[in-house]
Amino acid sequence: MSYNNPLVRRPSRALPKSVAVVGAGTIGPDIAYYLKSAIPDLALTLVDVAQAPLDRALQRFAEYTAKAVERGKMSPSQADKVRENLRVTVDYEAVRDADWAIEAATEDLALKRRIFARLEELMRPNALITSNTSSLPAARIFSELRHKNRATVTHFFAPAWRNPVVEVIRTPELDPQVLDDLRWTFCMTGKVPLVTADVPCFMLDRVFDNWCNEAAHLLSRASAAEIDAVAAEFVHAGPFFVLNLAHGNPIIIETNTLQADEEGEHYRPAAIFRSVETWRTGGMGKPVPVGREVAAAVRDRLLGILISQTGDILDRAIGEPQDLELGCRLALGFKAGPLALMRGIGDAEILRIGKRLAQERPGLPLPRRTLGEYQSFRRDVLVDTVGDVKVITIRRPEALNALHDELTDEILAVIRQFENEPSVSGFVLTGDGPRAFSAGADIGRFPSVLGNAAAAAQYARDCARLLQHLDRMEKPCVAALNGMALGGGLELALRCHGIVALRGASLQLPEITLGIVPGLGAMVVPYRRWPAAARLFHDMMRRNARVSAEAAHAAAIVDALGDDYADMIEQAIARVHALAGRLARPRDGSVTIAGLEPIEPVAVNGQALSAEVVRLMEEAIRAAATAPSFAAALEVGYRAFGASACTAAAREGVDAFLARRPPDFRKTG
Ligand code: COA
Repeated sequence: MSYNNPLVRRPSRALPKSVAVVGAGTIGPDIAYYLKSAIPDLALTLVDVAQAPLDRALQRFAEYTAKAVERGKMSPSQADKVRENLRVTVDYEAVRDADWAIEAATEDLALKRRIFARLEELMRPNALITSNTSSLPAARIFSELRHKNRATVTHFFAPAWRNPVVEVIRTPELDPQVLDDLRWTFCMTGKVPLVTADVPCFMLDRVFDNWCNEAAHLLSRASAAEIDAVAAEFVHAGPFFVLNLAHGNPIIIETNTLQADEEGEHYRPAAIFRSVETWRTGGMGKPVPVGREVAAAVRDRLLGILISQTGDILDRAIGEPQDLELGCRLALGFKAGPLALMRGIGDAEILRIGKRLAQERPGLPLPRRTLGEYQSFRRDVLVDTVGDVKVITIRRPEALNALHDELTDEILAVIRQFENEPSVSGFVLTGDGPRAFSAGADIGRFPSVLGNAAAAAQYARDCARLLQHLDRMEKPCVAALNGMALGGGLELALRCHGIVALRGASLQLPEITLGIVPGLGAMVVPYRRWPAAARLFHDMMRRNARVSAEAAHAAAIVDALGDDYADMIEQAIARVHALAGRLARPRDGSVTIAGLEPIEPVAVNGQALSAEVVRLMEEAIRAAATAPSFAAALEVGYRAFGASACTAAAREGVDAFLARRPPDFRKTG
């Protein structure tokens, strides 16, 4: 059984113990570094035909680990582990016992076929064999292999040690279990696997290569600097800036020639790619004046190619819309996914731009369906059916699954869609990947409400629509904490009807370190649901105490612990079944709470906090306890959040987080 969230399924093979990366050029050592940092005990062998690139690869490992230690991302002993068990060799024999070989050699079909023939000769028939090609279809590369069921393309994006996206290609010959094992492995090691069809350039490079090719075609109308300046509306770095960075002209020539030969002349690479090596760009972030007419023409064509490729990818089912959005943002550096862009510019504009593209660049595909049809997909959650339970996975890897109102509304829509179906017994809510259930409310959205109490309180109410629905539900929803459950993420879990957690997960309410109070129920719900644990919650909220899943289990906040992700999901499903027909409603009326003894405004880790916000929080906790109803108590929370958003401490805390520096509340009071 295959699931949208790859971790729901127990894999048929464990994490690899030994991997060979073939090709020590640009990306091979980066793939190797990613694997060694994610699985430090791994035995990793880098193979190349020449010694010089292998020596450079070792040097790169030394530099990367030194930098990671310097930035506090790795301890010196972790860095030692990453460099241990790393072997470089020109002898292919070294791959013999590897569980997995990843080829990262030059984009040359004949060469790749020779490499894979050799790998197959040496490796076990069930060892994984994958290619990091960015364009050549798997069917072609592996056509001569005897055991095609374990071979596919796993396409990484630069820099492969940090860029989370990996395209994993589904081929007719590939064993579906192998595909799911690869997705599981990537997910467990911090990557975001996106499954695509086996077509030239797969999914994301169809966007990227044609975006660059279109930019080059536009050079008859505008300079590279002007085109990059117009593109800055959509991407963090313009196409020519990126091409310079990656010495990318030959790649576009190669990949677009492949698409042109397969799919039509309209994909042919612009001739200028062959005569220019480096583009004259304005530099990242530097303003370049562009005339209005030129800017409009360039913008239309850049949007046109995005519309064209998005329609084509979805019409031909090359990839899923949610994956396309995520991949464009995470792997290609787009500020928003193409579907979000299209939603923003509206149907009439899309049709006008499409018409113009058809005139100026005949042959390029255009969306075949009505535009609204492309927009009906779930953006930030995955939904899986496991027996009679719907497992909802929050997937926002770029922000550790942080929540915003559209995301919580999306969860709510899934619950509403299925809660009246007799075949559905209930829901499990979990987070994507091994690190976080949710890192809380999206702090990036806070600046817009800072200083405006009413707007901030309303934002809290909007985010709480889902939580209030949970209070009224007839069927259980169980939170499965797969990692950190922070702030608003934990408040969501506290409202679910049951909580299970992975061993090693943690619960934390760090709002006070941002100079705000937790407004979505943390100052209310725990005191009604787990009154015996009141002091624990006082400490979590006022001093940012971190509580392990094990401690929360001992305090009866967490109902059960899972040994691994799949076990956690099983426990959550069992909990759904146990709770069916036995849901307790939140306690109404006023409640008595354990005393809130005065504290120094200092977090458990010694960080100074805002005395003013601690006071606001204590007042809200007391007022919520004496409120005449649960609804009135929640309202106290929303308003207190609004009040805290108007403090100088909130401004300092949020600014500090967004600027990646520690806050200084001593200056705010
Ligand atoms: N809102 C928005 N973005 C968030 C986020 C949140 N609540 N929590 C994490 N992120 C983003 C980070 O900004 C970062 O984005 P970037 O890569 O574009 O810079 C990304 O997620 C990864 O987080 P990072 O901080 O780099 O990971 P880390 O391992 O160093 O630290 C945490 C992890 C959870 C300790 C840290 O992210 C954190 O303190 N987050 C805020 C938690 C919080 O206060 N939540 C309550 C909000 S109500």
